[in-house]
Amino acid sequence: MKFNQSARFLKDELQKSLEKVKESFGLFKKEGIKNYEIKELLEDIEKGLGNYASKIDKLIQFDEEKYTIVQFLNEVLKLEYNGIWDYNMYASSIKDPVLAGDLKKFGASEGMHALLVANMVKKLGGTPQFNPPEYRKKKKLSVKEMLEEHKKGEIEAIELLERGMKKFSDPEFQYFIGKIRLDEQEHLKEVEKLLKEYKDLQAMIDATDYRWRDDYAGDEKDRPWIE
Ligand SMILES: [Fe+2]
Ligand SMILES: [Fe+2]
Repeated sequence: MKFNQSARFLKDELQKSLEKVKESFGLFKKEGIKNYEIKELLEDIEKGLGNYASKIDKLIQFDEEKYTIVQFLNEVLKLEYNGIWDYNMYASSIKDPVLAGDLKKFGASEGMHALLVANMVKKLGGTPQFNPPEYRKKKKLSVKEMLEEHKKGEIEAIELLERGMKKFSDPEFQYFIGKIRLDEQEHLKEVEKLLKEYKDLQAMIDATDYRWRDDYAGDEKDRPWIE
């Protein structure tokens, strides 16, 4: 990233100037110059430059790895949002209250993930990207097809999270992503179980006129990905 290069250069230059100020200050004392104004000025410059150098150093710490982690987390966020959307959409169109309840439960879990991921993005200094899935228009499909769709979504999420775990070594990140992956693996197992055991896989779902309300994640302030 060009910015990081430039910021590092700036930091080095500040550091060099700071050394020059110290050198001047040393000479000022050594040569017994009695000018209080110069002394004060040198002290001010030293303090100011030291302050800038340490501030820019902190900025640089938002480095390339963090930048790519934020990009990655925003990819995760996109999948979570697809999950929230789809699970809730089908839950609201399914007549069987038990199956609808299961789907709602998955949707709530994806909502929790979205919240955690968005907060992590913010913690890293990034901006959570809200990428709403395309509006799902009128759609007719069987329970089996719907569950197959979810199975694909869960696998996609697990694969993405595993790629992230391989790519980024930060222990806090590993732990964070690892926990979400465990949930997705659990979802996958449950969806597979439903695919084997659900009593009427051929029943048709008519997901029409669907309007999603995101009441799963508490107050609006708890949904940082919505601007
Ligand atoms: Fe999730
Ligand atoms: Fe999931």
